Amino acid sequence: MEKVRVVIVGIGAIGQMLTRELLNKRGFEIVGAVDIDPKKVGRDLGEVIGLDKKLGINVSNDIECVLRDSRPHVVIHMTSSYLKDVYPQLLTILKYGVNVISSCEELSYPYIVDRKLAEELDSTAKRYGSTLLATGINPGFLMDTLAIILTAPCIRVDSIKVTRHMNASIRRGPFQRKIGAGLTVDDFKRKISTKEISGHVGLEQSIALIAAALKVKLDRIDVGEVQPIISDKYVKTEYVEVNPGYVAGLRQTAQGVVDGKPFITLDFIAYVGASDDYDAIDIQGIPEIHERISPCVHGDWGTISMLINVIPKVMKAPPGLLTMKDITIPHCILSDVRDYL
Ligand SMILES: NC(=O)c1ccc[n+]([C@@H]2O[C@H](COP(=O)([O-])OP(=O)(O)OC[C@H]3O[C@@H](n4cnc5c(N)ncnc54)[C@H](OP(=O)(O)O)[C@@H]3O)[C@@H](O)[C@H]2O)c1
Repeated sequence: MEKVRVVIVGIGAIGQMLTRELLNKRGFEIVGAVDIDPKKVGRDLGEVIGLDKKLGINVSNDIECVLRDSRPHVVIHMTSSYLKDVYPQLLTILKYGVNVISSCEELSYPYIVDRKLAEELDSTAKRYGSTLLATGINPGFLMDTLAIILTAPCIRVDSIKVTRHMNASIRRGPFQRKIGAGLTVDDFKRKISTKEISGHVGLEQSIALIAAALKVKLDRIDVGEVQPIISDKYVKTEYVEVNPGYVAGLRQTAQGVVDGKPFITLDFIAYVGASDDYDAIDIQGIPEIHERISPCVHGDWGTISMLINVIPKVMKAPPGLLTMKDITIPHCILSDVRDYL
């Protein structure tokens, strides 16, 4: 069987890390790479991802040309968090009959963002025989897929709470800055209002995904404001310094409400200097389930692993726009990817 031919679209932090790991996996062939950043376009992919060797693939800004020439089985798409941005990119790719796995947060359950765009992606994928799925660590796994799976041994579920409590001191610099570490409270609030700090994109999607899997009809999804976490101590990381009274990070919660009561609660907390670092899922029901992973699953490793590990699942799935509840149980690809096809 021929190797699984992959085109990489979006060679930012996640795309670079994913490409480096994909090169070490058996049964894959990277046949093209696309980005719009002029600093990357025209350069060899090996150089762009920080290898000291060339891969013989030039980064292109012409997706259609790459798809025509390379005839991939799968595109791994890592360009933006928002449905309206990725929608035109995905329509173009789907028309080549190619499967697409995207890290776009809103695409993980796009029906609550813009049903018309979601349905158009679904019908286009079906018309051209492609499968489209968005995944990642979160949304994609920790606060939704894992919670769904953990309800399997329950005969009754009364409520689900998922907490991601991250010590951001051990995360990369851009993440620490993204959560506002080191800012004054006023600067934090200003950056929230200008959307330079966006909180966690995808809480609504995770709630909608869990509700859709369990066929629970929610009255509404409430997403709380992004709150600054104020440091009560001096914290210095490799990238930022935080004085007492300054922002160490942020917290955002969201709830899926049924009959006036929270049925699903998600609590996302990330700040530098946190003494605890864990992911927890608490299910009230019969039996109760209290699952805790400590330290937190690493976001970047988790994301690139999910994007790679779902490849055989997506290749074997029916055409259309799928969500994580629609594919068979994902797992690590340990062997040659073709063994799973
Ligand atoms: N679901 C999850 O768990 C999860 C986890 C991690 C990341 N993500 C999401 O995945 C996306 C990628 O993450 P990242 O950290 O790698 O972001 P990033 O560093 O900003 O990289 C995105 C790259 O895509 C390029 N790009 C933008 N529009 C493009 C287009 N139309 N065609 C081709 N390339 C395009 C960007 O170029 P410019 O810089 O020139 O715009 C940049 O090089 C983000 O939206 C992020 O939020 C999701």
